[in-house]
Amino acid sequence: MRKVLGKGLFIVVILVIIVSVTVSIVEAQSKSFLIDCGSNSSVNVDGRKWVGDMAPNNNVTLSSSGFVVSTSTLSGNSIYDPLYKTARIFTSYLNYTIKGVKGNYFVRFHFCPFVNEDYNLNKSSFGVVANGMKVLSEFNVPLEISDENMELQKSGKNSSSFFLVKEYVMAINVDTLVIEFVPSGSSFGFINAIEIVSFVDELFPGSVGKVGGGNLNLTGRSMETMYRLNVGGSKIQSNQDPDLWRTWEVDSSHMITANAGSGVKNTSNITYASVNDTSMAPLLVYETARAMTNNEVLEKRFNMSWKFEVDPDFDYLVRLHFCELVYDKANERIFRIYINNRTAADNFDVYVRAGGMNKAYHQDYFDSLSSKIDTLWVQLGPDTAAGAAGTDALLNGLEVFKLSKNGNLASVQRYDSADNATSKSKGKVLWVGIGAGVASALVLAIVIVLVLCFCRSRRKASTDTKNNPPGWRPLFLYGAALNSTVGAKGSAGTQKAYGSMASTRVGKKFTLAEINAATKNFDESLIIGVGGFGKVYKGEIDDGVLAAIKRANPQSEQGLTEFETEIDMLSKLRHRHLVSLIGFCEEKNEMILVYEYMANGTLRSHLFGSDLPPLSWKQRLEACIGAARGLHYLHTGADRGIIHRDVKTTNILLDENFVAKMADFGLSKDGPALDHTHVSTAVKGSFGYLDPEYFRRQQLTEKSDVYSFGVVLFECACARAVINPTLPRDQINLAEWAMRWQKQKSLETIIDPHLRGTYCPESLTKFGEIAEKCLADDGKSRPTMGEVLWHLEYVLQLHEAWLNMHNSETSFSSNQVLKVEGLEVLHEPSSEDEEDALNLKE
Ligand SMILES: *[C@@H]1O[C@H](CO)[C@@H](O)[C@H](O)[C@H]1NC(C)=O
Ligand SMILES: *[C@@H]1O[C@H](CO)[C@@H](O)[C@H](O)[C@H]1NC(C)=O
Ligand SMILES: *[C@@H]1O[C@H](CO)[C@@H](O)[C@H](O)[C@H]1NC(C)=O
Ligand SMILES: *[C@@H]1O[C@H](CO)[C@@H](O)[C@H](O)[C@H]1NC(C)=O
Ligand SMILES: *[C@@H]1O[C@H](CO)[C@@H](O)[C@H](O)[C@H]1NC(C)=O
Ligand SMILES: *[C@@H]1O[C@H](CO)[C@@H](O)[C@H](O)[C@H]1NC(C)=O
Ligand SMILES: *[C@@H]1O[C@H](CO)[C@@H](O)[C@H](O)[C@H]1NC(C)=O
Ligand SMILES: *[C@@H]1O[C@H](CO)[C@@H](O)[C@H](O)[C@H]1NC(C)=O
Ligand SMILES: *[C@@H]1O[C@H](CO)[C@@H](O)[C@H](O)[C@H]1NC(C)=O
Ligand SMILES: *[C@@H]1O[C@H](CO)[C@@H](O)[C@H](O)[C@H]1NC(C)=O
Ligand SMILES: *[C@@H]1O[C@H](CO)[C@@H](O)[C@H](O)[C@H]1NC(C)=O
Ligand SMILES: *[C@@H]1O[C@H](CO)[C@@H](O)[C@H](O)[C@H]1NC(C)=O
Repeated sequence: MRKVLGKGLFIVVILVIIVSVTVSIVEAQSKSFLIDCGSNSSVNVDGRKWVGDMAPNNNVTLSSSGFVVSTSTLSGNSIYDPLYKTARIFTSYLNYTIKGVKGNYFVRFHFCPFVNEDYNLNKSSFGVVANGMKVLSEFNVPLEISDENMELQKSGKNSSSFFLVKEYVMAINVDTLVIEFVPSGSSFGFINAIEIVSFVDELFPGSVGKVGGGNLNLTGRSMETMYRLNVGGSKIQSNQDPDLWRTWEVDSSHMITANAGSGVKNTSNITYASVNDTSMAPLLVYETARAMTNNEVLEKRFNMSWKFEVDPDFDYLVRLHFCELVYDKANERIFRIYINNRTAADNFDVYVRAGGMNKAYHQDYFDSLSSKIDTLWVQLGPDTAAGAAGTDALLNGLEVFKLSKNGNLASVQRYDSADNATSKSKGKVLWVGIGAGVASALVLAIVIVLVLCFCRSRRKASTDTKNNPPGWRPLFLYGAALNSTVGAKGSAGTQKAYGSMASTRVGKKFTLAEINAATKNFDESLIIGVGGFGKVYKGEIDDGVLAAIKRANPQSEQGLTEFETEIDMLSKLRHRHLVSLIGFCEEKNEMILVYEYMANGTLRSHLFGSDLPPLSWKQRLEACIGAARGLHYLHTGADRGIIHRDVKTTNILLDENFVAKMADFGLSKDGPALDHTHVSTAVKGSFGYLDPEYFRRQQLTEKSDVYSFGVVLFECACARAVINPTLPRDQINLAEWAMRWQKQKSLETIIDPHLRGTYCPESLTKFGEIAEKCLADDGKSRPTMGEVLWHLEYVLQLHEAWLNMHNSETSFSSNQVLKVEGLEVLHEPSSEDEEDALNLKE
């Protein structure tokens, strides 16, 4: 009875659609069979006519009728919804036989699991065999849903449903296509629609070059489309690719570091490089690309990398689409292509290969994966052999096809059964948990993971995500999405912290009138600094107390957040080596911060570029120690640790006694929360000081500050700008240049000439070693600020001992060296360390 009612409703829906859709049917250029399963009439969607599988004269024969189910509650997340409102269910073998299909075809199966009174399509499990080729095995849609489809689902916020399209490439050399649907065990299966679209022979070549040499004959091999991406552009819907009806997804979710590549677009006049290429991809794909992010002078020591989850033990065809959109001559952009860490091509110049600018071109590569590898990496990066041109790369589109193996395309190993799901590490498997109603087990697992991570992050603040157990990240991701129970635990904690922080601001609130009086209405002659945030004035507040008054530039977009950050940060931080906030003023759209006045200005101004007398080695060491102490406090003092993010000599200020203090917390971020080992964030900071690892991976840890601090150390020793474009190319970047000398153990060669003969050579050696360690490529191998501080104090002691010896004109004796070295061991916490300890308790 219910079923009949359902059917009646369904017919009404179909009739409404037929009446309301007045789109004329576009005659597709390619031959196609569009089958609406569970229907005996036809329906127009996406401008094409889909014929019911039970409609008369449709060239489709069913071996049995199964059951028809339908829904009326599908909530519009796809143009295909009218198609998806019906499905055919089978509980035993069901064959679809389609006549007149000889040729090359894309065969697409559409699955949209909805709930019906009798069946929850989520719970189906079945296999599909097409002309003897096993394409799906123990297939369950929720299990199969990958991250992109997750997004798909999320994109329609109201939608209670989602869908999945599986696409196969088949060369059919007989006149009929028999699609067998086989339920697994006592389970059942379903199908919403079958789409069969022909393509021209040229779409796939006879043979493809293998990564690492050799060729592979592709003739007659069936394939499954695993990924199809419009790189650097937006999603291309199937109706925007009107010959072959392919969907091109966005690529950013597959990029390991999305900011490594920035979008490039040129819609003018793109043509195909070859007349046979017109169906390779729509021109829309070639109009957008990703090129390596232009990071000015920082050496492009990174790749643009895309990562794909694939099934192990299969062969893959990787198709890369290129179109040079910017340069109109050869030798401007030359790069290397890596597939799974092996070079697939070098000296790759799109302009040369495509035969010009704005020419759509593609290149195929073939790679076999062993049974252990379940990811496919595609990387484009610098080709240093190509000189300056070899520092940029470009990619417009990307497709990954899985090749059949022994008559099989199905991935059984991905999930044997729900029982074994816990042993799998992929994000997908999570859905088993949710789907099968063991969400409570999942919650428990998240609790355990959180607890484990909590303990670990307590022990070691910054380890790498790589060390996390497999599956940890997605687990957390989804866990956070659950939000109600465990996910909320972490965030509620932080929110509370923020809340209390904001309410306990200690600074004084100034009126604008007071500020105007202090700065003589922002008299230009009182300006002592200009930064991204705005201008800094010297002013007199209260009774003659000097202050630095920072006034936000009204045009500064980030101003407000940075302003708030800085107030919040400084309000909860009190330390001898942090510039302290006296107060702030928020009036009439003004954002003004009032700090203690630092009489001697920036450390940089005492190193170079001004007429100030050069600092002695001892003063430089003391300044570095002061700054290190401030940073050490930032990293360890507050309850979560704070990453400064913009450590540089202009943010180290000196007071009247040359005591160094860290300033400018506008970019600061709270350190990793207990459940993260890093903070993911867009790259900010200053060129020349920027941690390359941070740039590559956008993972911010305290070690990014350590890197920048290492650059500060070199700057103190060499007294030159961290980036000086007027120097020869190999000297532009101080970090790279100084590291080359340091690695040859000859830092003294490039030391500030003012220091010559006035410093203890051992102290410089040791100093160089510290700086070198700070600049380690891998954040994990860099020391903590505490260790840096410790070693710098030792350096200072070495130097002071040397100074004492020189002042008393005594000759250098080995005895004293021993004594000096003993200091490292004997080092007692200084009074300042005790102060830090006190601050820690605050
Ligand atoms: C289509 O199917 C419905 C119910 O399944 C049936 O009532 C109707 O007669 C069928 N129409 C045709 C033309 O076969
Ligand atoms: C069925 O096949 C015949 C002959 O190939 C063709 O003319 C007809 O259009 C096909 N019908 C459908 C619905 O595709
Ligand atoms: C389905 O097709 C296959 C292959 O043609 C055949 O072996 C099998 O018997 C068919 N099953 C049914 C139920 O018709
Ligand atoms: C099917 O599974 C998906 C993903 O687990 C879920 O969002 C959806 O609510 C489920 N639908 C039904 C009817 O169980
Ligand atoms: C979601 O629902 C709201 C009202 O319930 C509606 O205004 C909105 O358009 C819907 N969004 C989508 C994507 O369906
Ligand atoms: C590939 O193999 C087929 C036979 O399987 C053969 O006819 C064809 O010539 C081969 N193509 C190439 C490029 O070797
Ligand atoms: C577009 O291409 C044609 C032929 O290559 C050329 O004649 C024309 O100048 C181009 N237009 C632009 C705007 O580049
Ligand atoms: C296009 O394809 C045809 C047939 O496969 C071939 O003869 C011709 O050389 C191709 N043209 C180009 C420019 O590759
Ligand atoms: C886009 O391509 C045209 C040539 O077709 C070129 O003249 C123009 O400079 C390009 N635009 C950009 C932004 O590169
Ligand atoms: C490629 O290298 C990355 C890290 O460098 C590693 O995580 C990945 O597993 C490697 N892939 C393969 C297939 O070896
Ligand atoms: C780019 O990736 C390849 C393969 O993983 C690696 O060998 C190479 O060192 C990387 N290049 C850079 C600059 O990171
Ligand atoms: C679970 O996996 C193990 C091997 O990892 C296998 O021996 C066992 O049969 C599987 N269990 C089920 C229920 O599939």
